Parts: sequence; structure tokens; C-alpha cells
Amino acid sequence: MTIGQIVRRILGKNFQPVGKLYRSIFVDIHKIAAFIGDQIPAGSRCLDIGGGDGMIVSAMLEQRPDLHVTMTDIAPNIGSFIDPKFLDRVMLHPATTAKSVAGTGRSFNAITIADVLHHVPADARSMFWSDLREICRDTGCRTIIVKDVCPGTLRGFLSLMCDRYITGDRHVTLIRPDDMIADIKHIFQTDAVDISHSEPDKANYCLVVNLK
Ligand SMILES: C[S@@+](CC[C@H](N)C(=O)[O-])C[C@H]1O[C@@H](n2cnc3c(N)ncnc32)[C@H](O)[C@@H]1O
Repeated sequence: MTIGQIVRRILGKNFQPVGKLYRSIFVDIHKIAAFIGDQIPAGSRCLDIGGGDGMIVSAMLEQRPDLHVTMTDIAPNIGSFIDPKFLDRVMLHPATTAKSVAGTGRSFNAITIADVLHHVPADARSMFWSDLREICRDTGCRTIIVKDVCPGTLRGFLSLMCDRYITGDRHVTLIRPDDMIADIKHIFQTDAVDISHSEPDKANYCLVVNLK
């Protein structure tokens, strides 16, 4: 069992405030949710891949009462940080690949992927992107917003160490925004995408990918 899992187990229902405080060392969730929300048209249906506890999804739903989110994650327990008042606007799909949810005739206006890519092992990332390309085709989605953490920064270094030694995910490696842009262009093909890069919160970057 990892340190993170032990703390969760000991604190039980009291884990949420501690988890939020811990995460706030690395990222201002509200700044990121506001930035993501600004990229998404009114009334959108979003697919959130790797939603985890749902901290970012909950902040997005708070700021944008018009959004509905389908959240998927390969983890078995998800969504525990989503404010119960938003649960009628979220569908949770734990222990599920995004591809299996997408292949069921649903359509989405936007896909959000926050702090997931650095958890995907480096040799599995190109498969992640090609699955995403298929998901976009199947769901008609033209906008993807990826949030990740910059290597070479103090917050990046701290988050990497905590991911490896507290969360216990030894696969974690941070990705430079330029490298992620190159990977996306390679998979989606340069002429078919328009990518913008922003840093809404220090060391936390977002790529907004618009498919042409
Ligand atoms: C740091 S958490 C981020 C949670 C949430 N997106 C947020 O920012 O609040 C990373 C999540 O990515 C999930 N994950 C890792 N690899 C994944 C994959 N290939 N597909 C879907 N989810 C994945 C993990 O299970 C974990 O819940």
C-alpha cells in the first residue's frame, strides 16, 4: 500500500479537506477550472478522461452551471470530491477506458484531460493519443483541453516527487509542453490541428487543441 492510500484509509471521510490542501501546493484548481471553462461553449457536454476524485470537474461544474460531464477513469473509485449538488450533471464511469465510453454513440463538445498524461507510462502515450483521435472521430468532438505540469519548475519537481513517493506511481514523468504539442501534431497530423499553449497557474500549463 502506498503512503497516499494509507492516509486515505486512516482519514476516511475526513480525507477530502486534507486532499484539497495537499493538491493546492501544486495547483490552483479554481484558476485551472476557470481557464478550461473559458474554452468550452455554452451548454456543452464534456468528456473528462482520468477524472480521479473529480476535484477539477467539481470546480468546473461550480463555475459553469450549463455544463454536463461524463467522467471516465481506469481507477475503480472515482468522483469522491464532486460536490453532491452537482451529481445530476455528472456521469461516472470508473474502471473504464475512455474509448469504451466513446464508442457508444455519444457526442461531446469538449474533452478535458487534467494531470493524466504524466501518469501514462512514456511508452504508452502514443497509444493514448491515437485512442483519443478515435474518440474524437466517434464522438464528433473538435476541442481537447489538456492540463499538465511543467518539468524544470519547483512545483513540477515537488509534484513529481509526491506522485512517485506519496501517490506511489513510479511511472510518472513530466512532459514539456513543446514535446506534448509535437506528440499531438504527430498523431493528429500537423495540418489538422490548431494548438494554443497557456500557463493559467504557475508551472501548470494547458494546451487547447482545436481539430480543423
Ligand atoms: C492526478 S489524477 C487527476 C485527476 C483529475 N483529472 C484532476 O485533475 O483532479 C490522475 C488520474 O488519471 C488516471 N489515469 C491514469 N492513466 C489513465 C488512462 N490511461 N486513462 C484514464 N485515466 C487514467 C488515474 O487513475 C488518476 O485517477
